Amino acid sequence: MQKIRPTVIPEEIICAEIPAPPNGMIVFGASGDLARRKLIPSLFRIFERGLLSESFYLLGCGRKKLSDKDFRQSAIQAIREKSGDTGAKELEPFINRLYYASGDYNDPSFYEHIDSRVAELDQKHETQNRYVFYLAVPPFLYGTIVEQLGPHLHCRRRGDLRQRVRLIVEKPFGRDLQSAVELNTKIQKCFDESQIYRIDHYLGKETVQNILMFRFANAIFEPVWNRNFIDHIQITIAESIGVEHRAGYYDKAGALRDMFQNHMLGMLSLVAMEPPVSFEADSIRDEKVKLLRSIRTFDPDSLSSFMVRGQYGPGTVNGEQVAGYRQEEGVDAELRTETFVAAKVFVDNWRWKGVPFYLRTGKRLACKDTEIAITFKQVPHSMFVSAGLAEMPANVLVLQIQPEEGISLSFQAKRPGSKVCMSTLRMDFSYREVF
Ligand SMILES: NC(=O)c1ccc[n+]([C@@H]2O[C@H](COP(=O)([O-])OP(=O)(O)OC[C@H]3O[C@@H](n4cnc5c(N)ncnc54)[C@H](OP(=O)(O)O)[C@@H]3O)[C@@H](O)[C@H]2O)c1
Repeated sequence: MQKIRPTVIPEEIICAEIPAPPNGMIVFGASGDLARRKLIPSLFRIFERGLLSESFYLLGCGRKKLSDKDFRQSAIQAIREKSGDTGAKELEPFINRLYYASGDYNDPSFYEHIDSRVAELDQKHETQNRYVFYLAVPPFLYGTIVEQLGPHLHCRRRGDLRQRVRLIVEKPFGRDLQSAVELNTKIQKCFDESQIYRIDHYLGKETVQNILMFRFANAIFEPVWNRNFIDHIQITIAESIGVEHRAGYYDKAGALRDMFQNHMLGMLSLVAMEPPVSFEADSIRDEKVKLLRSIRTFDPDSLSSFMVRGQYGPGTVNGEQVAGYRQEEGVDAELRTETFVAAKVFVDNWRWKGVPFYLRTGKRLACKDTEIAITFKQVPHSMFVSAGLAEMPANVLVLQIQPEEGISLSFQAKRPGSKVCMSTLRMDFSYREVF
């Protein structure tokens, strides 16, 4: 008899990546931390893999007075810091597509200058008026830049050209509901909803995206993915680093705004939402909204039973003495900014009623680890005389997000021998090993 094996479609067919169409990218805050450490090195890697069009250019914008040559030099440095000693020859085709414009974000003439450079670069690189604005500046500048972009740039262009212009806004999107609504109103005066990408790059991680594949591309998990089978879910984002050089930003944000309301609620919604109709942005957004609306609001009078906040003090990490949060450079010791949050959250809907979700995040914790642990209910009764329920812990499914990316499932199995004796085993899948 033949053994049954799953049908495997060749990877080169299903995973073939399609290069982006011709496109320009205008990055505001191009000399900043995000652009230098993440955006430019990532774009280079995509370019290297042939996934950016040959007709690509990037126009960096900022206050700092830099020539195209200076900007290219700093981009080379940023890429080498990330990807090692990449040779000038490999870098050249990408670097030659980088340009720079400097000015004051409040000055309309800066946007006129950007407009004329975009027109010139569009001709030179044949990008057919297709471009993306990327806001990599501190959040208080988002509104200013978008308001200026409206009259000075793409809003003058009508018809299908409007569909070729995109706006990417990094998180955080506002500080609270009111400021988020205000920012949204400003943006929507100039851009259609289909042009706006409000992003949290954390949710772009392969393992975070894989939550949807895991849940909805396998038939065996969905039937048990509910309050009848799941006891509780824990979502953890632990960092071992402190605030480092980001005190200026972090001191005004804290763990709730920096991690909890975006990354953690993003992961919670992917784990707990109902199946979307399709893998389209709007369908997924609709289900996330439904889920977020089902989260029980915290009652201020009993908040301490559902949430704790803390701040790291001085201590030792890997044998090295490290400062407490209040001793870190740039931190205002008067502020009670939290560097740790743990919360017990309930989702009041049919699927999850009564199942606690424990969410926790913090800096300077024992190790760097992000994971979602789904603990199933314990078996109701032990039929084994020599093993009580205490010897049979519940099955735990762990979706490991970083630094180790993978999935593991714990289960009970008989230990070899004449005595009835059990062990908890783990079945592991590691992204690094498999891919
Ligand atoms: N860094 C990250 O890993 C990260 C992660 C997620 C989200 N984000 C978000 O991405 C955005 C950019 O972050 P970032 O870390 O790159 O910020 P940043 O380094 O503090 O600032 C980016 C650039 O904005 C310009 N800028 C700063 N203060 C300004 C001011 N008062 N007026 C005018 N321009 C000013 C500076 O460029 P010029 O002096 O050349 O104008 C600076 O290089 C922020 O909204 C941040 O919350 C960052």
